[in-house]
Amino acid sequence: MIPAIIDCDPGTDDAIALFLALAMMEVRLVTVSGGNVPLARTLANARALVGMTGQAVPVVAGAAHPLIGAHRDEAAVHGADGLGGVVLPEGPPATPGIAADAIRAVLRDAAPRSVHAIALAPSANLALALATEPALAGRLASISVMAGAWGEGNWTPSAEYNAAMDPEALAMLLAVDAPVTLVTLDLTAQALVTPARLAALPRTGVCARAAAAILGAVPPSRRFSGRGFALHDPCAVAAVLEPGLFGFRDAAVRVDSGDGAARGRTHIDRWGRTGATPNVLLAEALDADGFFAMLGQALSQLP
Ligand code: BDR
Ligand code: CA
Repeated sequence: MIPAIIDCDPGTDDAIALFLALAMMEVRLVTVSGGNVPLARTLANARALVGMTGQAVPVVAGAAHPLIGAHRDEAAVHGADGLGGVVLPEGPPATPGIAADAIRAVLRDAAPRSVHAIALAPSANLALALATEPALAGRLASISVMAGAWGEGNWTPSAEYNAAMDPEALAMLLAVDAPVTLVTLDLTAQALVTPARLAALPRTGVCARAAAAILGAVPPSRRFSGRGFALHDPCAVAAVLEPGLFGFRDAAVRVDSGDGAARGRTHIDRWGRTGATPNVLLAEALDADGFFAMLGQALSQLP
């Protein structure tokens, strides 16, 4: 199985991403930051989700707020508890320590280019880990990041939430000496959870039933005229698990970290117009039916 570190802020879509990764990957570490809801809540949710799978994966707390500025949540989308009001069994305690140290410890023990880091939240934990020991980037097979957009944002008209919350950390992550795969809002818009797709997901065990309840609690998005909502974070897991489901292109990406209206905007040069050297593998197209089939298969494998 593919070794992975998952950095997340559950979060309804993070919850599904965690289940997908725990079913199909060798998850060595889950790190958590404040994001969709405050850190105390994202940590409790991550502990609960990992606990439900019965796996003894360490869950370690990290950044409560971005590198610069205050924490701002997305409770309007994810609910005050981050999981749309779905109550999960209390998970095992968090592993003591802080996320950046735990990430470095996992990478120090790893072979060169062997572990995939999957970034599903504002990026401070991974950025701090790799900024303080840059040589450990050589242990990463890739960093798969859910952040940004080449089109419209979802936090501001310009910026996607993870990028908008911590543009400095995202810029640091994009500069790390490891292959970066970027999964943006434009890609996740293709992973639309419609009533038909939700109904087709399995209800076989406690995890699958919890996943269905969590997805059932997400309000349909105005962006898709009520047809459903985009399942963001699992796409960044799927890009590592099943790259054949995606169409990719090399692209040059720069993050706007100014103080203006475009703060957090990812300027994505898909067509080589700037002459900048490509720094990411950009996920552009998704086989959505294949993606939901894989998700269903993963959920049916969990307890
Ligand atoms: C991203 O922000 C959060 O709301 C989601 O969990 C996802 O990581 C999408 O913009
Ligand atoms: Ca997230």
